[in-house]
Amino acid sequence: MKRSLLQLLTSLFFFGCVWNLSAAPDPEIEARVGKLLSKMTLEEKIGQLCQMNFEGRITDDLAKRIRNGEVGSFLNAGNLDAKNALQRIAVRESRLGIPLIYGRDVIHGYRTVFPIPIGQSCSWNPDLIEKASRVAATEAASDGIHWTFAPMVDIARDPRWGRIAEGCGEDPFLTSSLAAAMVRGFQGRRLSDADAVAACAKHYVGYGAAEGGRDYNTTWIPERLLRDVYLPSFHAAVDAGAATLMSAFNNLNGVPASGNAFTLRQVLRKELGFDGFVVSDWASIQEMINHGTCADEAEAAKKGLEGGVDMEMVTDCYRNHLANLVREGKIPESLVDESVKNVLRVKFRKGLFERPFTDAAKGKTLLAAGHLALAKQLATQGLVLLKNEKNALPLSPTGGKVAVIGPLADSPADQLGCWVMDGRPEDAVTPLAAIRSLLGKDNVLFAQGLRTSRDEDRSGFAEAVRAAESADAVILFLGEEAAITGEAKSRAFIGLPGRQEELAAEVEKTGKPVVLVVMAGRPLTFDAAAEPASSVLYAWHPGTMAGPAIADMLFGKAQPTGKLTVSFPRTVGQLPVYYNFMNTGRPVNPETWIVPSIFDQSKYIDVDYRPQYPFGFGLSYTTFRYDRLTLSSPEFGLDGSITVSATVTNTGKRAGEEIVQLYIRDLAASVTRPVKELKGFKRVSLDPGESRTVEFILKASDLAFWNDRMEFKAEPGRFHVWVAPNSAEGLKGEFSLTE
Ligand code: NOJ
Repeated sequence: MKRSLLQLLTSLFFFGCVWNLSAAPDPEIEARVGKLLSKMTLEEKIGQLCQMNFEGRITDDLAKRIRNGEVGSFLNAGNLDAKNALQRIAVRESRLGIPLIYGRDVIHGYRTVFPIPIGQSCSWNPDLIEKASRVAATEAASDGIHWTFAPMVDIARDPRWGRIAEGCGEDPFLTSSLAAAMVRGFQGRRLSDADAVAACAKHYVGYGAAEGGRDYNTTWIPERLLRDVYLPSFHAAVDAGAATLMSAFNNLNGVPASGNAFTLRQVLRKELGFDGFVVSDWASIQEMINHGTCADEAEAAKKGLEGGVDMEMVTDCYRNHLANLVREGKIPESLVDESVKNVLRVKFRKGLFERPFTDAAKGKTLLAAGHLALAKQLATQGLVLLKNEKNALPLSPTGGKVAVIGPLADSPADQLGCWVMDGRPEDAVTPLAAIRSLLGKDNVLFAQGLRTSRDEDRSGFAEAVRAAESADAVILFLGEEAAITGEAKSRAFIGLPGRQEELAAEVEKTGKPVVLVVMAGRPLTFDAAAEPASSVLYAWHPGTMAGPAIADMLFGKAQPTGKLTVSFPRTVGQLPVYYNFMNTGRPVNPETWIVPSIFDQSKYIDVDYRPQYPFGFGLSYTTFRYDRLTLSSPEFGLDGSITVSATVTNTGKRAGEEIVQLYIRDLAASVTRPVKELKGFKRVSLDPGESRTVEFILKASDLAFWNDRMEFKAEPGRFHVWVAPNSAEGLKGEFSLTE
């Protein structure tokens, strides 16, 4: 195909816009970095590249090490006194007085715990998520933390992987938008502000594609998929100003991510223009020996640094070997210098040289009333209503007695979720407590049924059945306890653990209307319990304010607006199942796939090919009608855009909010394209009977992808477009992109 000059210019334009070619350095900071570097010995330089885990005591050895400038950072640096004490040694007693930078996993809140990230993402609300990250940063900073190991922006398509809890789901567009919001929230107006913490986008890159959903497992991701699906969220985080990135544990296409010069040097530094620093994940430099790409720690140090990891977390490959490698001429000192500059640049940007200590007297803001209100708001917006037969929800607060049943109804530690280093169960308000305070204690019958989600002991069933029988309605809290979600918590079976299905069956046998609330860290296959229930609310692990958020939702004081950010499988056998798949040469025909003898369709003969609940799905207490899809033009050029609009009407009896989604499909391209791709979303609030026209501007650049020549550009041709309530429905139109 001959390409016109215009096409070439357009592609350069897109490349320049989408791939940030350079970030503007601050000359004053660069000068300070250069001056300081020129005074440093090789050992002091290497010290800046070493991060230690604080083990709780400032021993003589540790003090000496800091005094000698042999450590640049701590993670988990103890309480504020410990942090200030360690910092005093670094700043006042070391030769150059370079401050330490303190990192910690402040993933979904500090003392005020917000929903786990996958739950937050179901709000589809970047503004609210930014505010929540702001609160987390404010609380953490008041406790002397400079740097959070968040946001996690890994795309995950496999709920067996426990860490699906920590990300924003399966979609690159949505994850990018929420990643940027989190970075903005953590870093605040200026990184140097006292209440800002440096963000760390992780895990770079591809970690979520672990084979079989088994944590830490190998990943094979072709470059196009890497760039189209796994890299955009990192790109967005970098563009939002993320100060740091964390290199991942996984082996990516045969080269460990923590020694991967292609992703770290070529893509991150050269293409994205990142000028902060990269920290390894915990021991991931040393683990290159296990991966089998390094014979020993010296080689791991060499490959880590050459690969582009600036700071080594906890292991000592850099500390023990970099100096010798330089002296032996195996790596140039300039490579060490480059990494040191990256680290110092962030320390200067963070204002650590001006304000190395945190003033305890300033008082902490932990659990401020506004923080808890925000935690409740985000928890509310993260709840997803999956089923509501005959409008069984909301329940009437004066509708008689309710039985609250299940191991997660009153389990404060579990509702906090998987990354709770500083949150406390005693701060959490459980659903049971909130329902009791809403209805009055006498109207609530409580029976746990099972002590934990994994409990095998049925002895509590009889009491649960008695409670159900004596009540007018049952609210059943099932799911996963926090301890089986998150890092290293991959599951081969993702059903309700323990005897929960049996408990549900016993309770459902009473014939009482059952509302099922699922609190979990991943999409579960839970249809056996969901099918007989009248309503299903998927709550994830909603954090400190889970109780009030859920109670308000169940009893109609709040409206469900959440939508899924990950497809829910019917069975693990379908995995991976995600909405933005490729069509194949033999796509499914929805009319005939069910006939087992049919050959030419990509389907299963024993289970529906569709997910149980699709990406983007979530019900409301009201209903919405979509009509009048309008395109401002049937075609537009490579430098143009169109407006796609539709009218959304609230056809129910209650006010409600709808998250309206925009999808496209490129029908014929130089490489295969997904059957749908999210390109926009908007939230509309509508009173009963009210209509609103929702508009999306779709630019040609929004249609760009990595083509057959690995150029990022849009290709002329026909496209489908949907304005939709979720990825499986919607109004469909068509337009053409012209040369
Ligand atoms: C390992 C985890 O993979 C990472 O997400 C976390 O930030 C570090 N440990 C530090 O705790």
